[in-house]
Amino acid sequence: MAKVIIVYESVFGNTKMVAESIIEGMRQVSGIEATLGKPKEVDLKQLIGYDAILVGSPNHMGGATRGIRKFIDKLAKINLEGKLAAVFDTYAGGEFEKAVKKMEKQIGEKVPALKLAAPGLSIKVEGMRGPIAEGELPKCKEFGVKIANQLKG
Ligand SMILES: Cc1cc2nc3c(=O)[nH]c(=O)nc-3n(C[C@H](O)[C@H](O)[C@H](O)COP(=O)(O)O)c2cc1C
Repeated sequence: MAKVIIVYESVFGNTKMVAESIIEGMRQVSGIEATLGKPKEVDLKQLIGYDAILVGSPNHMGGATRGIRKFIDKLAKINLEGKLAAVFDTYAGGEFEKAVKKMEKQIGEKVPALKLAAPGLSIKVEGMRGPIAEGELPKCKEFGVKIANQLKG
């Protein structure tokens, strides 16, 4: 059984919905156990038990939230050799992939042991509070399926 944890923040619920859709996709693949968590709830030592760590954030001023940036920094304190990672963001302006790219860069610099399983997912929302733009949610499910298959393979 491959174990995945999705750690995310969400102010208005859109990034949470993305995280839940990713999990839905993952659960379509047998042999995957997926869990959701918030940065403040996750005990660092507990992460050792996972095969993959996914990190999701709304785009706040062109990057991930402070809580998520701090969480990624903290990952450097534990040995994550051999584990996979992937990131996702939600954005309301024209900033497609902006927070995703920053999170990937931060992981590359601060936690090089973590290898990216797939390029990050960036999901558009309609305005600050959402909702998630049409056609975007299926991408989340597909992303979940893709990562789950990679973990098995
Ligand atoms: C403080 C704050 C700053 C934001 N800055 C940006 C931004 O720079 N670019 C952008 O595209 N969206 C920005 N947004 C819109 C968020 O990306 C949007 O609210 C978020 O994707 C919704 O996700 P959530 O429901 O999970 O909070 C900002 C939102 C907030 C609350």
